[in-house]
Amino acid sequence: MLIFKRVKDLQEYVSTQKSTGKTVGFAPTMGALHKGHLSLIEEAKNRNDISVCSIFVNPTQFNEEGDLKKYPRTPEKDIEMLTTAGNDVLFMPTVTEVYPPNIQIKNDFEFGQLDKVMEGAFRPGHFEGMAQVVNRLLEIVQPTSLYMGQKDFQQLTIVRDMLRQTNSDVELVMCSIIREEDGLAMSSRNVRLTSENRKLAVIINETLREAKEKMDTASPAMIKEAALEKLNSVPNFKAEYFDIVDGVTLSALDRFEDTTFAVACVAVWSGDVRLIDNIILKN
Ligand code: PAJ
Repeated sequence: MLIFKRVKDLQEYVSTQKSTGKTVGFAPTMGALHKGHLSLIEEAKNRNDISVCSIFVNPTQFNEEGDLKKYPRTPEKDIEMLTTAGNDVLFMPTVTEVYPPNIQIKNDFEFGQLDKVMEGAFRPGHFEGMAQVVNRLLEIVQPTSLYMGQKDFQQLTIVRDMLRQTNSDVELVMCSIIREEDGLAMSSRNVRLTSENRKLAVIINETLREAKEKMDTASPAMIKEAALEKLNSVPNFKAEYFDIVDGVTLSALDRFEDTTFAVACVAVWSGDVRLIDNIILKN
């Protein structure tokens, strides 16, 4: 696997490859990799001549300084995992490579309500920073396709809108959620759960699956109410939201008949660990 730390070196390599007609699949990450991340690489590899993964803990998307400091960093293990997975190129830039002091990096996207609801309501500034870095990384890497996880459904929806705003011709590929055996969505945060809370965390996915089962007989509001009640009755759980939304506009749904794409999204605190998950109800 080739590892680049400098923008210039990566760009030189990728543009040479692209000039010979090769396609480039790109999966941006913040490292502390797990099988969920590797599934994006797998998909990028399968559908392209070259896979590029970036590991960059983006300071502009953390709304709390402490959270940025606490973010897990396991570069050696990540490199080993990516090598085993057969990834072609790893881009591991420093903060000044991504945000050079002399360049104004675009961050004036307008997402309407997309970045205000759900995660946006609880993590001010997060999506602005996320869009800024994804746009900057796309400018640097110039991939053919972009691989992102359904796990962060709202993030992916915002990136889709950002690609529209920049008239980008990059193809966005949504990769399915990789789960632990008991159904818990894989996340670098899972290791921070106490063993008791880890067992209970399975209830998040269970609640989402129940929501899907009830779709034919209950309204979104009824499903939401039952889900919040169930989640909040679990010891140490505090549900932040459970929303049933249109998969494109992220507007809360009154009726399933009003859309062809419905998604249930949830965020739960389990002790001091915040977990998110979602399920596509209709598409
Ligand atoms: P990070 O949390 O490292 O996630 C990188 C990518 O992996 C995202 O597209 C995310 O949706 C995907 N992912 C995480 N867990 C997954 C799982 N269990 N199954 C499938 N895919 C999963 O998301 C970010 O980093 C950052 O915001 C980033 C986009 C890199 C911008 O800084």
